[in-house]
Amino acid sequence: MTLEFSAAVRRIPSYPAAAGYALAEPVVLLASNESPYPPIPEVVAAASAALATVNRYPDPASTRLRAALSDRYGVPAERIAVGNGSCDILLAAGEALLEPDAELVYAWPSFSIYPQLEAASGARAIRVPLDAAECHDLDAMAAEITVATRLVIVCNPNNPTSTALPFARIAEFVAAVPAHVCVIVDEAYCEFNLLDDPDATLDLLERHSNLVLLRTFSKVHGLCGLRVGYALCGSRELPDAVAQVRQPFFCNAVAQAAAVEALRHQDEVARRVERAAVARVQLEDGLRELGIVPAASQANFCWFDLGAGGDEERIVGGLAQAGVLVRAGSALGKPGALRVTYGTTAENDRFLEVLAVLLAAG
Ligand SMILES: Cc1ncc(COP(=O)(O)O)c(C=O)c1O
Repeated sequence: MTLEFSAAVRRIPSYPAAAGYALAEPVVLLASNESPYPPIPEVVAAASAALATVNRYPDPASTRLRAALSDRYGVPAERIAVGNGSCDILLAAGEALLEPDAELVYAWPSFSIYPQLEAASGARAIRVPLDAAECHDLDAMAAEITVATRLVIVCNPNNPTSTALPFARIAEFVAAVPAHVCVIVDEAYCEFNLLDDPDATLDLLERHSNLVLLRTFSKVHGLCGLRVGYALCGSRELPDAVAQVRQPFFCNAVAQAAAVEALRHQDEVARRVERAAVARVQLEDGLRELGIVPAASQANFCWFDLGAGGDEERIVGGLAQAGVLVRAGSALGKPGALRVTYGTTAENDRFLEVLAVLLAAG
C-alpha cells in the first residue's frame, strides 16, 4: 500500500537544507546565515533556568516575551505575534491569507521558503525578477498588485542576494499598496543593514494597518537553534488570524525565556553588528582581490557570481572537501552564484584561501 497525499504535499518544494549536520570533524559553517558567535552567558543561563520547569506547557500567549518586545519597540503587545522562528509566522500568515484564486507577490531570487506559501495554499504567486543590482524592483512589484492580491512580501535585506533598499523606497512602496493587501517586510537581517536605522520602519506601522515587520532572534542574536521569531504589526488583525490557524504551543518555554533575556543586551547586538561590518570589508576586499565583485551587502552574508572561470559545483564541492560549507546559487534561484555567510575572521580567511586555490585550478 502507498499512502495518498494531498495536492498541497505534492506541490510543496523541499527546503534546500544545508549539508554538514552529520559531520564529525569541525568545519567552517558558512551556509546558513547563522551567527558564528554563541549566545552570551546571560542568555544561556536564562534558557537553562527555563529547562527546570519544562514539565509545564509554555505560556501560549508568550506574555513576557510580547511585553518585552512591546517595551523595546513601542508596539502594543496585541499587535505582536511570536512564532517557532519567523518562518512559522510566515507560513501561518500564508495559511490565514491565501487560498486558490488569491495571489501573492514577491521578488525572485528571494528567501527559499516563500514558494511554500503558494504551494501550500494553491494561490498564484507572481515572482518579480530582481533588478540589475540584484535589488527588489518595487515599481515592477507594485504593478503586479491586482484585486486578487492578498499578500506582498519584501525581503529587506534580501536573502540570498544580501542587498537592501533604502527606507524611503520601502516607505513609498508600502504607501502605494492598497490597505486590504497585507505587506510583510521580512527584516530577518535588518540589524546588519547600515543604510538606515534598522528601526526606521517602526513608524510606518502607525500609518499602515496592513504592514507586518517580520523579525527573528535567529540571526544577530544567534538563537536559531531555539527557534523564536516575531512580527510587529500595524493592527491586531494578522496576530489574531495566525493564532487561529496554529497549534496553541508554537513557541517553547526555553526559547521564550532566552529571547526575553537577549532583548536586555542591545550592547551585544551592537557588538555583533560591528563585527559583521568588519567581516563585510574583509570578504569584499578578499573577493575583489580574486577578481570577484560581490553584491552590495547589508546583511551578514555575501553573494556573488563566480563568473566564467567558476563552475559552481566544482567550487562548492572543493570548499566542502576543505571543510568550508557555503551555499550554491542553483539551490537559491541563481545557478553560478554563491552565498557565503560571514564567519569569524579566521573562518573568512580560510574560505578566501580555499576559494583562491580552487579558482586558480579552474
Ligand atoms: C529572509 C529570511 N527570513 C526569515 C528567515 C527565518 O528565520 P527563522 O525562522 O529562523 O526566524 C530566514 C532564515 O534564514 C531568512 O533568511
